[in-house]
Amino acid sequence: MGLPPLTTIAHQWMATHLSPGHQVVDATAGNGHDTVFLAQQVGASGHVTAFDVQAPACAATRRRCADGGVSNRVTVVHAGHETMRDHVEAPVHAAMFNLGYLPRHDHDCITQPDTTVAALNAACSLMTEGGLITVLAYRGHDGGPEEAQRIQAWLDTRVDTLRILQSHMYSSGPDAPLLWGIQVPAA
Ligand SMILES: C[S@@+](CC[C@H](N)C(=O)[O-])C[C@H]1O[C@@H](n2cnc3c(N)ncnc32)[C@H](O)[C@@H]1O
Repeated sequence: MGLPPLTTIAHQWMATHLSPGHQVVDATAGNGHDTVFLAQQVGASGHVTAFDVQAPACAATRRRCADGGVSNRVTVVHAGHETMRDHVEAPVHAAMFNLGYLPRHDHDCITQPDTTVAALNAACSLMTEGGLITVLAYRGHDGGPEEAQRIQAWLDTRVDTLRILQSHMYSSGPDAPLLWGIQVPAA
């Protein structure tokens, strides 16, 4: 069996964690793949709020949700994930961040360190005990390494309050993507 890509590992972590009825956030809707996956995990009684700053991404996500028959449990918000607390109420059971740019679109529109860290703080503040955040950061595009470093610096300030798992393809060198699983410990 081959080693799975980090996108698959993030889905595996989420699939293990999520149950029907959970409320979750897709912090970067993009083409809606993760949104539909999350909506399938939380079932008809759950809810996904998906954020994206680009209108085409929101439209693609709405379309993919309709095609997947999960629109009834998804809200797509055309706004930055840093506004999460304006749109979502606690408790949130999980949040997914798949950072970088929208494939086949404007590579100038990428997630940014300041807003990413603001959104991570917002997600932590909304998270239920035991809640899971996954963050997938790409380091092969301009600004990617800086964003990943900023997240690592933020994680360093939270090691005493969060459980943090880091995963990456070690043999692929310094530009390889990084995946973190961040869990708010149960009391
Ligand atoms: C790698 S793509 C996401 C892929 C997506 N999860 C999927 O399943 O197709 C990253 C997305 O983040 C979006 N983005 C950039 N800045 C953002 C912000 N501040 N808040 C929310 N989304 C943002 C981009 O527009 C882009 O669509």
